[in-house]
Amino acid sequence: MNRSEKDRIYANKQNEVNDFVFDENVADVFEDMIQRSVPGYIALNQMLPVIANTFLQQNTHIYDLGCSLGEASISIAKSSVYKNIQIYAVDNSDAMVKQLQERLAKQDLDTMIKVILSDIANIDIKNASFVILNYTLQFIQRSKRNDLVNKIYAGLNSGGALLLSEKITYQDLEEDKLMQRLHENFKRLNDYSELEISQKREALENVLIRDTHEQHIDRLHHAGFSEVSVLMKYLNFVTYLAIK
Ligand SMILES: C[S@@+](CC[C@H](N)C(=O)[O-])C[C@H]1O[C@@H](n2cnc3c(N)ncnc32)[C@H](O)[C@@H]1O
Repeated sequence: MNRSEKDRIYANKQNEVNDFVFDENVADVFEDMIQRSVPGYIALNQMLPVIANTFLQQNTHIYDLGCSLGEASISIAKSSVYKNIQIYAVDNSDAMVKQLQERLAKQDLDTMIKVILSDIANIDIKNASFVILNYTLQFIQRSKRNDLVNKIYAGLNSGGALLLSEKITYQDLEEDKLMQRLHENFKRLNDYSELEISQKREALENVLIRDTHEQHIDRLHHAGFSEVSVLMKYLNFVTYLAIK
């Protein structure tokens, strides 16, 4: 269910479109924004209890890296077959963390989920059975992506898994263009105007840097993951499951 206000951030013409940031304005409309912008977001979150419960182990840690408003953490806390797990929900946006804390306090989930305001590069990962990195690696500097995925691999227990979701780019420019066109049509059908679509594209241009499918697969294999699968694909949005 969508509890946030409608996203109208780019509805009016801006003299200068600044780089996209996860500030209070975005946090206020984030749920609506991500559902109307990311194909498969709702389907992925509906499937999350199934995926997570396949990998959760007793007395282990779960990390939701770039958790935003904690959709994944909350879904796992509510559906986990084990109650003795500790979920760490990590984000470096003050506004997201504040709203998530308020949300958890209302639902009595604040013992199972520990919210951490931090860059995910500075988080220790240990005794993990499940790590979620949904639509966040694309916002991390390219030069730091391998280190992050290596660190996740090192902190996972044997049999644990990383769930990675990303918007991808394509080696084939025509395929890339086709996917972008389809994605923009998805946004139009979700009631975003031409102005909203073009200003958001400009705001994200230097901020959301997409890797190709091949780059993701190489990075995951290089880190040591023995089994890497595409779990879901909606247009140019892909979810990978990497098992240690
Ligand atoms: C697209 S949102 C993620 C959505 C969320 N995982 C979900 O499924 O609802 C990206 C999030 O990553 C956070 N983020 C970006 N870079 C980060 C970093 N270096 N450390 C921690 N959080 C980061 C942003 O603040 C934002 O909340």
